[in-house]
Amino acid sequence: MRIILLGPPGCGKGTQAKMMVEKFGIPQISTGDILRGAVKEGSPMGKEAKKYMDGGLLVPDEVVVGIVRERLQNKDCASGFILDGFPRTLPQADALTEVLKELQLPLDRVLSLTVDNQALIERLSGRRTCRECGRGYHIKFDPPKKPDFCDACGGSLFQRDDDKEETIRERLTVYENQTAPLIAYYREAGILAVIDGMKKIPEVQKEIDRLLGGGLD
Ligand code: AP5
Repeated sequence: MRIILLGPPGCGKGTQAKMMVEKFGIPQISTGDILRGAVKEGSPMGKEAKKYMDGGLLVPDEVVVGIVRERLQNKDCASGFILDGFPRTLPQADALTEVLKELQLPLDRVLSLTVDNQALIERLSGRRTCRECGRGYHIKFDPPKKPDFCDACGGSLFQRDDDKEETIRERLTVYENQTAPLIAYYREAGILAVIDGMKKIPEVQKEIDRLLGGGLD
């Protein structure tokens, strides 16, 4: 099963990807998580990426394409993968098509999650993430049992630097201009399925299950 989760910041890609990892046993490849890891390590690539991420802008295509090209060659991708947050531009999509052709790993589905902007802002500004295990929460829609601490590992929760309202607005504009055209790109390829991401988390999950077992929109 080779899947792309496509959609604006805060639509639920990471939330659904983590549940799919548990259910299907295939890896989640999140370029955002990989880049944040590089920022934390303080590597040269991380330092360069941080300049873009803090402003809500996209990291240059050649950097993220290089990351994904390398990651897809790991053995754990042989039985499938979930791309979360990649591709995000038309050149990235073309590069992915080439890489997957070389590796003989054709995509099965592109799941496009739609959520309106007001809801995205509310979701992102209330998002919290565990510092230890990376599990995501929402202070209103998916709160931890004990405020500020992770249910799974007890780690403390933090708010991402780019989840401030001004940066969120910039990320949404970047999505509209640079990433939304990928919806038509994958519709033309005949592998797009559109999912109403406004529904509750378990309902979206159910819809994904249904689509992965059945037809396309
Ligand atoms: P990245 O980390 O990929 O961020 P994003 O795409 O902006 O997506 P998010 O992680 O913010 O949202 P999500 O859709 O995963 O939502 P989530 O499930 O957490 O990228 C960050 C930055 O890295 C980019 O700005 C860019 O600079 C750089 N970057 C990354 N990839 C790149 C690329 N390919 N090219 C160039 N640059 C790149 O949910 C959000 C919140 O809502 C959570 O609190 C969750 O609990 C809650 N929630 C989820 N689903 C629901 C629901 N159905 N109902 C109510 N609440 C919900």
